[in-house]
Amino acid sequence: MPQTTLPFMRKIIFASNNKHKAEEIRAVLGGQFDIITLKEAGIEIDIPEPHETLAENASEKSMVIHRLTGMDCFSEDTGLEVDALGGAPGVRSARYAGEQANADENLQKLLAEMKGIEHRAARFRTVISLILNGQEYIFEGTCEGSITNSASGSTGFGYDPVFMPAQYDKTFAELGIEVKSVISHRKKAIEKMTAFLGAIENK
Ligand code: IMP
Repeated sequence: MPQTTLPFMRKIIFASNNKHKAEEIRAVLGGQFDIITLKEAGIEIDIPEPHETLAENASEKSMVIHRLTGMDCFSEDTGLEVDALGGAPGVRSARYAGEQANADENLQKLLAEMKGIEHRAARFRTVISLILNGQEYIFEGTCEGSITNSASGSTGFGYDPVFMPAQYDKTFAELGIEVKSVISHRKKAIEKMTAFLGAIENK
């Protein structure tokens, strides 16, 4: 369904090139804010994620885009933390199988590392950096679950085919965006940001 945008709706740049993340964020927001992706803003940039924490990576991305546009913007960095692997891949989730690794290679490496391991608890963690009127605000959301023995499902992206959220017997990739946008790490972080923005707007 096309999203209607009201004339007074707050415009915020989402400092990311990831169309799956933008789709999930819009599903959570349901048209509450006018989210503009980098592509839609005509900005072509690949911002590195060199830091040791999700928050530092998220900050770097939103600061770069704020400096470039002067607009309110937010970015997010997400990691998958697996208890049996000491929290790995964590902040290195995008490069787990190597600097140029794709999603399938990362996922296959994770399954190989987890082979034969019984304790499979894991969580996704999303950290959002919002720059509003030049000031930074941080929001975080987590989703607990476990790593499956093999990949299943065809929706979503990244590690979705091997992550089964707690209280479900299907992976995120099998559950689809309808469920993911209600229970995910990203949804929880976005919800905190929108509660904050809503509180400011109603002041
Ligand atoms: P980044 O936040 O784009 O740096 O993502 C880090 C890594 O985690 C990438 O390999 C993504 O594909 C993966 N990832 C990020 N968010 C999700 C998610 O919601 N589900 C599955 N994988 C994700």
